[in-house]
Amino acid sequence: MKKAVLITGGCGFIGANFIHYMRGAHPELEIINLDKLTYSGNPDNLKSLKDDPHYQFVRGDIADEDLILSLLQENNIQALVHFAAESHVDRSISGAKAFVQANVVGTHVLLERAREYWTDTLSKDSSFRFVHISTDEIYGTLGEDGLFSEESPFRPNSPYAATKAGADLLVRAYFETYGLPTLIARPSNNYGPYQFPEKFIPLMITNLMENKPVPIYGKGLNVRDWIFVTDTCRAIDLIMEKGKPGEAYNVGGETEKQNIDVAREVLALFGKEESYLSFVTDRPGHDLRYALDNKKIKGELGWKQTVAFKDGIEQTISWYKDNEWWWKPLKERLFRESKGFWSK
Ligand SMILES: NC(=O)c1ccc[n+]([C@@H]2O[C@H](COP(=O)([O-])OP(=O)(O)OC[C@H]3O[C@@H](n4cnc5c(N)ncnc54)[C@H](O)[C@@H]3O)[C@@H](O)[C@H]2O)c1
Repeated sequence: MKKAVLITGGCGFIGANFIHYMRGAHPELEIINLDKLTYSGNPDNLKSLKDDPHYQFVRGDIADEDLILSLLQENNIQALVHFAAESHVDRSISGAKAFVQANVVGTHVLLERAREYWTDTLSKDSSFRFVHISTDEIYGTLGEDGLFSEESPFRPNSPYAATKAGADLLVRAYFETYGLPTLIARPSNNYGPYQFPEKFIPLMITNLMENKPVPIYGKGLNVRDWIFVTDTCRAIDLIMEKGKPGEAYNVGGETEKQNIDVAREVLALFGKEESYLSFVTDRPGHDLRYALDNKKIKGELGWKQTVAFKDGIEQTISWYKDNEWWWKPLKERLFRESKGFWSK
Protein backbone atom coordinates (compact mmCIF):
# COMPACT_ATOMS: atom_id res chain seq x y z
CA MET A 1 0.00 0.00 0.00
CA LYS A 2 1.22 3.52 -0.84
CA LYS A 3 2.24 5.68 2.11
CA ALA A 4 0.55 9.06 2.21
CA VAL A 5 1.10 12.17 4.30
CA LEU A 6 -1.37 15.04 4.67
CA ILE A 7 0.40 18.39 5.04
CA THR A 8 -1.53 21.50 6.05
CA GLY A 9 -0.27 24.96 5.09
CA GLY A 10 2.12 23.56 2.48
CA CYS A 11 1.91 26.70 0.34
CA GLY A 12 3.50 28.79 3.11
CA PHE A 13 7.17 29.29 3.85
CA ILE A 14 8.15 26.29 6.00
CA GLY A 15 5.43 24.01 4.61
CA ALA A 16 6.62 24.51 1.02
CA ASN A 17 10.24 23.92 1.99
CA PHE A 18 9.12 20.78 3.84
CA ILE A 19 7.29 19.43 0.77
CA HIS A 20 10.35 20.03 -1.46
CA TYR A 21 12.52 18.38 1.18
CA MET A 22 10.19 15.36 1.50
CA ARG A 23 9.98 14.84 -2.28
CA GLY A 24 13.77 14.52 -2.28
CA ALA A 25 14.20 12.53 0.94
CA HIS A 26 11.23 10.14 0.52
CA PRO A 27 10.34 9.95 -3.18
CA GLU A 28 7.97 7.01 -2.60
CA LEU A 29 5.64 9.03 -0.34
CA GLU A 30 2.35 10.47 -1.58
CA ILE A 31 1.95 14.07 -0.46
CA ILE A 32 -1.40 15.80 -0.14
CA ASN A 33 -1.13 19.52 0.57
CA LEU A 34 -4.19 21.22 2.07
CA ASP A 35 -3.95 25.00 2.03
CA LYS A 36 -6.53 27.77 2.13
CA LEU A 37 -4.24 30.15 0.22
CA THR A 38 -4.50 33.07 2.60
CA TYR A 39 -2.38 36.15 1.79
CA SER A 40 0.78 34.23 2.81
CA GLY A 41 0.00 31.01 0.90
CA ASN A 42 1.46 30.94 -2.57
CA PRO A 43 1.02 28.03 -5.03
CA ASP A 44 4.09 29.33 -6.90
CA ASN A 45 6.15 27.92 -4.02
CA LEU A 46 5.40 24.45 -5.41
CA LYS A 47 5.25 25.28 -9.10
CA SER A 48 7.99 22.75 -9.89
CA LEU A 49 5.76 19.91 -8.58
CA LYS A 50 2.88 20.72 -10.93
CA ASP A 51 3.22 17.47 -12.88
CA ASP A 52 4.56 15.34 -10.04
CA PRO A 53 2.30 12.25 -9.72
CA HIS A 54 3.20 11.93 -6.01
CA TYR A 55 1.96 15.42 -5.17
CA GLN A 56 -1.62 16.68 -4.90
CA PHE A 57 -2.81 20.15 -3.94
CA VAL A 58 -6.21 20.70 -2.34
CA ARG A 59 -7.45 24.22 -1.69
CA GLY A 60 -9.43 24.26 1.54
CA ASP A 61 -9.68 25.27 5.18
CA ILE A 62 -8.38 23.19 8.08
CA ALA A 63 -11.62 24.11 9.88
CA ASP A 64 -13.72 22.33 7.23
CA GLU A 65 -14.67 19.19 9.17
CA ASP A 66 -16.08 17.14 6.27
CA LEU A 67 -13.17 17.95 3.98
CA ILE A 68 -10.60 16.90 6.60
CA LEU A 69 -12.28 13.56 7.27
CA SER A 70 -12.66 12.74 3.58
CA LEU A 71 -9.01 13.66 2.84
CA LEU A 72 -7.84 11.36 5.64
CA GLN A 73 -10.08 8.47 4.58
CA GLU A 74 -9.77 8.70 0.80
CA ASN A 75 -5.99 8.94 0.84
CA ASN A 76 -5.31 6.40 3.57
CA ILE A 77 -3.20 8.94 5.43
CA GLN A 78 -0.49 7.60 7.77
CA ALA A 79 0.73 10.97 9.04
CA LEU A 80 -0.62 14.49 9.26
CA VAL A 81 1.90 17.34 9.51
CA HIS A 82 0.24 20.56 10.57
CA PHE A 83 1.87 23.85 9.52
CA ALA A 84 -1.23 25.88 8.61
CA ALA A 85 -1.54 29.01 10.72
CA GLU A 86 -1.81 32.74 10.78
CA SER A 87 1.86 33.42 11.46
CA HIS A 88 2.72 37.12 11.56
CA VAL A 89 2.99 38.68 15.05
CA ASP A 90 2.33 42.26 13.83
CA ARG A 91 -0.90 41.22 12.13
CA SER A 92 -2.04 39.49 15.36
CA ILE A 93 -1.54 42.78 17.22
CA SER A 94 -3.79 44.66 14.82
CA GLY A 95 -6.44 41.89 14.83
CA ALA A 96 -6.34 38.56 16.67
CA LYS A 97 -9.63 37.05 15.49
CA ALA A 98 -8.24 35.32 12.40
CA PHE A 99 -5.46 33.90 14.60
CA VAL A 100 -7.89 32.36 17.08
CA GLN A 101 -9.90 30.90 14.21
CA ALA A 102 -6.99 29.38 12.25
CA ASN A 103 -4.59 28.49 15.04
CA VAL A 104 -6.94 27.33 17.80
CA VAL A 105 -10.27 26.42 16.17
CA GLY A 106 -8.57 25.04 13.03
CA THR A 107 -6.16 22.90 15.05
CA HIS A 108 -9.04 21.60 17.13
CA VAL A 109 -10.97 20.52 14.02
CA LEU A 110 -7.89 18.70 12.70
CA LEU A 111 -7.42 16.92 16.04
CA GLU A 112 -11.08 15.88 16.22
CA ARG A 113 -11.23 14.56 12.67
CA ALA A 114 -7.84 12.85 13.05
CA ARG A 115 -9.10 11.18 16.23
CA GLU A 116 -12.25 9.98 14.46
CA TYR A 117 -10.24 8.63 11.51
CA TRP A 118 -7.62 7.02 13.76
CA THR A 119 -10.29 5.37 15.93
CA ASP A 120 -12.87 4.28 13.34
CA THR A 121 -10.83 3.72 10.17
CA LEU A 122 -7.38 2.81 11.50
CA SER A 123 -8.62 0.98 14.63
CA LYS A 124 -6.15 3.02 16.70
CA ASP A 125 -3.14 1.90 14.64
CA SER A 126 -0.16 2.94 16.76
CA SER A 127 1.94 3.90 13.72
CA PHE A 128 -0.32 6.87 12.83
CA ARG A 129 1.29 10.27 13.54
CA PHE A 130 -0.15 13.76 14.10
CA VAL A 131 2.80 16.19 14.00
CA HIS A 132 2.03 19.72 15.11
CA ILE A 133 4.31 22.65 14.30
CA SER A 134 4.36 24.91 17.33
CA THR A 135 6.88 27.69 18.05
CA ASP A 136 9.43 28.91 20.59
CA GLU A 137 7.24 32.00 21.10
CA ILE A 138 4.86 30.04 23.36
CA TYR A 139 7.51 30.24 26.10
CA GLY A 140 7.47 34.05 26.18
CA THR A 141 10.70 35.94 26.67
CA LEU A 142 14.05 35.23 28.31
CA GLY A 143 16.29 37.68 30.17
CA GLU A 144 19.92 37.91 29.19
CA ASP A 145 20.73 34.34 30.30
CA GLY A 146 19.27 30.86 30.13
CA LEU A 147 17.52 28.72 27.53
CA PHE A 148 13.99 27.41 27.17
CA SER A 149 13.66 23.64 27.59
CA GLU A 150 10.56 21.65 26.65
CA GLU A 151 9.56 21.82 30.33
CA SER A 152 9.65 25.64 30.52
CA PRO A 153 6.25 27.17 31.36
CA PHE A 154 4.17 28.74 28.60
CA ARG A 155 4.10 32.54 28.94
CA PRO A 156 3.05 33.81 25.49
CA ASN A 157 3.13 37.59 25.10
CA SER A 158 1.60 38.31 21.68
CA PRO A 159 -1.86 37.24 20.48
CA TYR A 160 -0.05 35.10 17.86
CA ALA A 161 1.98 33.30 20.53
CA ALA A 162 -1.10 32.85 22.75
CA THR A 163 -3.04 31.13 19.96
CA LYS A 164 -0.04 28.89 19.20
CA ALA A 165 0.23 28.03 22.91
CA GLY A 166 -3.49 27.14 22.93
CA ALA A 167 -3.00 24.85 19.94
CA ASP A 168 0.08 23.24 21.49
CA LEU A 169 -1.88 22.47 24.68
CA LEU A 170 -4.81 21.02 22.73
CA VAL A 171 -2.42 18.71 20.85
CA ARG A 172 -0.92 17.55 24.15
CA ALA A 173 -4.43 16.99 25.60
CA TYR A 174 -5.45 14.77 22.66
CA PHE A 175 -2.53 12.49 23.45
CA GLU A 176 -3.16 12.45 27.20
CA THR A 177 -6.95 12.10 26.94
CA TYR A 178 -7.51 9.94 23.86
CA GLY A 179 -4.08 8.44 23.17
CA LEU A 180 -3.94 10.00 19.66
CA PRO A 181 -0.25 9.64 18.67
CA THR A 182 0.63 13.34 18.57
CA LEU A 183 4.08 14.95 18.48
CA ILE A 184 5.06 18.59 18.70
CA ALA A 185 7.95 20.47 17.06
CA ARG A 186 8.84 23.89 18.53
CA PRO A 187 11.16 25.62 16.05
CA SER A 188 12.92 28.93 16.60
CA ASN A 189 13.08 31.73 13.96
CA ASN A 190 13.41 30.25 10.49
CA TYR A 191 14.89 31.93 7.44
CA GLY A 192 15.50 30.78 3.85
CA PRO A 193 13.82 30.68 0.41
CA TYR A 194 10.07 31.30 -0.03
CA GLN A 195 9.65 33.38 3.14
CA PHE A 196 6.94 36.00 2.70
CA PRO A 197 8.55 39.45 2.29
CA GLU A 198 6.83 41.02 5.30
CA LYS A 199 9.10 39.05 7.67
CA PHE A 200 12.35 40.55 8.99
CA ILE A 201 15.03 38.86 6.85
CA PRO A 202 13.24 38.80 3.46
CA LEU A 203 11.95 42.34 4.01
CA MET A 204 15.51 43.48 4.64
CA ILE A 205 16.94 41.64 1.62
CA THR A 206 14.26 42.79 -0.81
CA ASN A 207 14.37 46.39 0.47
CA LEU A 208 18.12 46.48 -0.09
CA MET A 209 17.64 45.05 -3.57
CA GLU A 210 15.23 47.94 -4.21
CA ASN A 211 17.68 50.41 -2.65
CA LYS A 212 15.23 51.18 0.16
CA PRO A 213 15.95 51.53 3.92
CA VAL A 214 15.71 48.58 6.29
CA PRO A 215 13.23 49.01 9.19
CA ILE A 216 14.50 47.97 12.64
CA TYR A 217 12.23 47.84 15.69
CA GLY A 218 13.37 49.97 18.64
CA LYS A 219 17.14 49.88 18.95
CA GLY A 220 17.41 46.44 17.34
CA LEU A 221 18.48 44.80 20.58
CA ASN A 222 15.95 41.94 20.55
CA VAL A 223 17.63 38.55 20.27
CA ARG A 224 16.35 35.73 18.07
CA ASP A 225 17.69 32.20 17.62
CA TRP A 226 18.02 31.72 13.84
CA ILE A 227 17.71 28.39 12.02
CA PHE A 228 17.96 27.70 8.30
CA VAL A 229 14.68 26.25 7.08
CA THR A 230 16.08 22.97 5.70
CA ASP A 231 17.47 22.13 9.15
CA THR A 232 13.94 22.55 10.51
CA CYS A 233 12.56 20.32 7.73
CA ARG A 234 14.98 17.51 8.65
CA ALA A 235 14.04 17.88 12.30
CA ILE A 236 10.32 17.57 11.53
CA ASP A 237 10.95 14.49 9.38
CA LEU A 238 12.92 12.90 12.24
CA ILE A 239 10.23 13.77 14.78
CA MET A 240 7.63 12.14 12.52
CA GLU A 241 9.78 9.00 11.96
CA LYS A 242 11.44 8.49 15.33
CA GLY A 243 9.82 10.81 17.89
CA LYS A 244 7.93 9.43 20.85
CA PRO A 245 4.18 10.14 20.77
CA GLY A 246 3.11 12.59 23.45
CA GLU A 247 6.46 14.40 23.37
CA ALA A 248 7.44 17.91 22.29
CA TYR A 249 10.85 18.73 20.78
CA ASN A 250 12.57 22.11 20.64
CA VAL A 251 14.25 22.80 17.28
CA GLY A 252 16.64 25.70 17.86
CA GLY A 253 19.38 27.05 15.66
CA GLU A 254 21.88 27.74 18.49
CA THR A 255 22.52 31.00 16.64
CA GLU A 256 21.50 33.85 18.87
CA LYS A 257 21.77 37.27 17.29
CA GLN A 258 20.48 40.73 18.04
CA ASN A 259 18.37 42.05 15.15
CA ILE A 260 20.82 44.89 14.64
CA ASP A 261 23.66 42.41 14.12
CA VAL A 262 21.64 40.41 11.59
CA ALA A 263 20.96 43.67 9.76
CA ARG A 264 24.65 44.61 9.82
CA GLU A 265 25.64 41.21 8.38
CA VAL A 266 23.13 41.57 5.56
CA LEU A 267 24.20 45.17 4.88
CA ALA A 268 27.81 44.02 4.66
CA LEU A 269 26.90 41.31 2.14
CA PHE A 270 25.20 43.98 0.02
CA GLY A 271 28.18 46.34 0.49
CA LYS A 272 25.83 49.01 1.91
CA GLU A 273 26.31 51.56 4.69
CA GLU A 274 24.55 51.65 8.09
CA SER A 275 22.68 54.74 6.89
CA TYR A 276 20.25 52.23 5.30
CA LEU A 277 19.00 51.30 8.80
CA SER A 278 15.73 53.01 9.73
CA PHE A 279 14.81 52.70 13.42
CA VAL A 280 11.01 52.50 13.86
CA THR A 281 8.74 52.47 16.95
CA ASP A 282 9.05 49.17 18.77
CA ARG A 283 6.34 46.50 18.58
CA PRO A 284 4.18 46.47 21.78
CA GLY A 285 5.07 43.57 24.10
CA HIS A 286 8.16 42.81 21.97
CA ASP A 287 9.90 39.76 23.49
CA LEU A 288 13.52 40.54 24.32
CA ARG A 289 15.14 37.18 23.74
CA TYR A 290 14.33 33.67 22.54
CA ALA A 291 16.81 30.79 22.76
CA LEU A 292 16.14 27.08 22.81
CA ASP A 293 17.84 24.16 24.50
CA ASN A 294 18.22 21.44 21.81
CA LYS A 295 19.49 18.66 24.09
CA LYS A 296 16.39 16.51 23.70
CA ILE A 297 16.19 16.35 19.90
CA LYS A 298 19.95 15.93 19.63
CA GLY A 299 20.20 13.22 22.28
CA GLU A 300 17.03 11.26 21.52
CA LEU A 301 16.68 11.65 17.74
CA GLY A 302 20.27 12.35 16.66
CA TRP A 303 19.42 15.66 14.96
CA LYS A 304 21.88 18.47 14.55
CA GLN A 305 21.81 21.62 12.49
CA THR A 306 24.05 21.63 9.44
CA VAL A 307 23.80 25.15 7.98
CA ALA A 308 25.83 27.90 9.66
CA PHE A 309 24.19 31.35 9.65
CA LYS A 310 26.90 32.79 7.40
CA ASP A 311 26.18 30.18 4.70
CA GLY A 312 22.42 30.20 5.20
CA ILE A 313 22.14 33.96 4.85
CA GLU A 314 24.28 33.95 1.70
CA GLN A 315 22.09 31.20 0.20
CA THR A 316 18.98 33.16 1.15
CA ILE A 317 20.21 36.39 -0.43
CA SER A 318 21.16 34.51 -3.62
CA TRP A 319 17.71 32.94 -3.75
CA TYR A 320 15.93 36.31 -3.49
CA LYS A 321 18.30 37.75 -6.11
CA ASP A 322 17.52 34.86 -8.49
CA ASN A 323 13.77 34.88 -7.85
CA GLU A 324 12.53 38.45 -8.25
CA TRP A 325 9.56 37.00 -10.19
CA TRP A 326 8.49 35.34 -6.93
CA TRP A 327 8.69 38.22 -4.44
CA LYS A 328 8.11 41.36 -6.55
CA PRO A 329 4.33 40.82 -7.03
CA LEU A 330 3.94 39.95 -3.32
CA LYS A 331 5.73 43.12 -2.28
CA GLU A 332 3.71 45.24 -4.69
CA ARG A 333 0.58 43.82 -3.06
CA LEU A 334 1.87 44.66 0.42
CA PHE A 335 2.71 48.17 -0.75
CA ARG A 336 -0.81 48.62 -2.13
CA GLU A 337 -2.33 47.43 1.14
CA SER A 338 0.03 49.83 2.97
CA LYS A 339 -0.25 47.89 6.17
CA GLY A 340 2.73 48.65 8.37
CA PHE A 341 6.26 49.75 7.79
CA TRP A 342 6.98 47.71 4.66
CA SER A 343 5.15 50.42 2.75
CA LYS A 344 7.73 52.99 3.78
N1 LIG B 1 8.43 31.12 10.26
C1 LIG B 1 9.00 30.86 11.43
O1 LIG B 1 10.09 31.36 11.76
C2 LIG B 1 8.31 29.92 12.40
C3 LIG B 1 8.98 29.58 13.58
C4 LIG B 1 8.38 28.69 14.47
C5 LIG B 1 7.15 28.13 14.15
N2 LIG B 1 6.51 28.48 12.99
C6 LIG B 1 5.22 27.84 12.70
O2 LIG B 1 5.39 27.10 11.50
C7 LIG B 1 4.17 27.09 10.75
C8 LIG B 1 4.42 27.61 9.35
O3 LIG B 1 4.94 28.95 9.45
P1 LIG B 1 5.27 29.78 8.13
O4 LIG B 1 6.27 30.80 8.50
O5 LIG B 1 5.55 28.84 7.02
O6 LIG B 1 3.86 30.50 7.87
P2 LIG B 1 3.25 31.10 6.53
O7 LIG B 1 2.39 32.23 6.97
O8 LIG B 1 4.32 31.35 5.54
O9 LIG B 1 2.33 29.92 5.97
C9 LIG B 1 1.11 29.55 6.55
C10 LIG B 1 0.31 28.76 5.53
O10 LIG B 1 -0.89 28.31 6.15
C11 LIG B 1 -1.98 28.51 5.27
N3 LIG B 1 -3.21 28.65 6.07
C12 LIG B 1 -3.48 29.64 6.97
N4 LIG B 1 -4.69 29.42 7.51
C13 LIG B 1 -5.19 28.28 6.94
C14 LIG B 1 -6.39 27.54 7.12
N5 LIG B 1 -7.34 27.95 7.95
N6 LIG B 1 -6.55 26.41 6.40
C15 LIG B 1 -5.60 25.99 5.53
N7 LIG B 1 -4.44 26.67 5.33
C16 LIG B 1 -4.24 27.80 6.03
C17 LIG B 1 -1.61 29.78 4.50
O11 LIG B 1 -2.33 29.90 3.28
C18 LIG B 1 -0.12 29.58 4.30
O12 LIG B 1 0.15 28.85 3.13
C19 LIG B 1 3.17 27.94 11.54
O13 LIG B 1 2.36 27.06 12.29
C20 LIG B 1 4.05 28.79 12.45
O14 LIG B 1 3.37 29.13 13.63
C21 LIG B 1 7.06 29.36 12.11
